[in-house]
Amino acid sequence: MFIALLPGDGIGPEVITEARRVLEALALTGLQFEEALVGGAAYKAVGHPLPQTTLDLAKRADAILFGAVGDPDCDALERHLRPEQAILGLRKELELFANLRPATLFPELADASALRPEVASQIDMVIVRETNGDVYFGEKGMRTTADGKREGYDIMSYNEDEVRRIARVGFETAMARGKKLCSVDKANVLETSQLWRDVVIETAKEFPEVELSHMYVDNAAMQLVRNPGQFDVIVTGNLFGDILSDQASMCAGSIGMLPSATLNIDQKGLYEPIHGSAPDIAGQGKANPLATILSAAMMLRYSLGHPEAADRIEAAVAAALATGARSPDLGGSHEHARNGRCRFGGTVSPARAAAAPGGGTPTGNLARG
Ligand code: IPM
Ligand code: MG
Repeated sequence: MFIALLPGDGIGPEVITEARRVLEALALTGLQFEEALVGGAAYKAVGHPLPQTTLDLAKRADAILFGAVGDPDCDALERHLRPEQAILGLRKELELFANLRPATLFPELADASALRPEVASQIDMVIVRETNGDVYFGEKGMRTTADGKREGYDIMSYNEDEVRRIARVGFETAMARGKKLCSVDKANVLETSQLWRDVVIETAKEFPEVELSHMYVDNAAMQLVRNPGQFDVIVTGNLFGDILSDQASMCAGSIGMLPSATLNIDQKGLYEPIHGSAPDIAGQGKANPLATILSAAMMLRYSLGHPEAADRIEAAVAAALATGARSPDLGGSHEHARNGRCRFGGTVSPARAAAAPGGGTPTGNLARG
């Protein structure tokens, strides 16, 4: 099992350090790591956010554990040199099109949610976000209009094959969970969304057991805070999924808690926290490493064939939270940071926590069909 570690920028290196420590504590045989630069860190060192050597390592590895990219020093660079291009490039080059973002509330964190505890405690969903197309990858640019005004443009499009393959992942994910799929679009306004909806309805014929519904994205944003418990699996496009998954994370306590997996058709995956690089708190040991540690659990379960080790990590996270340990984003004091080192991460001990069968497995319910 050969893992590429791509720490990236800001808090990326410190959360990856904690996740690596947890992985090493499992003492699995044959676990190997190789680290490479990515994002602003790579740009500063070698002039490109996704150097060829990093891309080659990602292709060679059995799985990729990714920290975060984004660096304010790089905001003025041409777009193709900005740190964010690294994650977009990896998703595209490795055809990682299916981004699974589970949002589940650890019972210990009911008070950390932005929602009332009785509403928040109902959250148990997976957002299946497409990550190879949409307005992210369409033609884009700046131009001057006939009357001399500057104009920016980004073309949104999806073809039917792209929609069908992500729709299938949505249905398969629903089949492995509560058999309810909500497809989120903006078909009342966008042609891209009309095609999306048509193809999702066609694909539904392959999955007669799944109850399919459709929701416009504005309504979905509202329903997520009104009654998040109504969702089992959401399938949506790249842009809507980016926005809704940040929103779901806050409903589930903190953006510092949510892991993600981005898979290709062969289940090769890149695993990353959904949060960004948070440069304002980087290097202070304040960052919550749990989203990355839980991403490592997803990696063991979905790409490396070690579901029991994934269970152990998730049980260890639950056990750490049960002791009352909290990072600042969860309402904890900054006391957990000492000399820039994250003491909170150190409370996660898979060696001590036995696998909890059926318990403490927030990412356990999204196996693909
Ligand atoms: C995410 C991030 C990325 C995205 C950025 C860093 C390009 O926000 O993974 O959600 O927009 O996909
Ligand atoms: Mg995002």
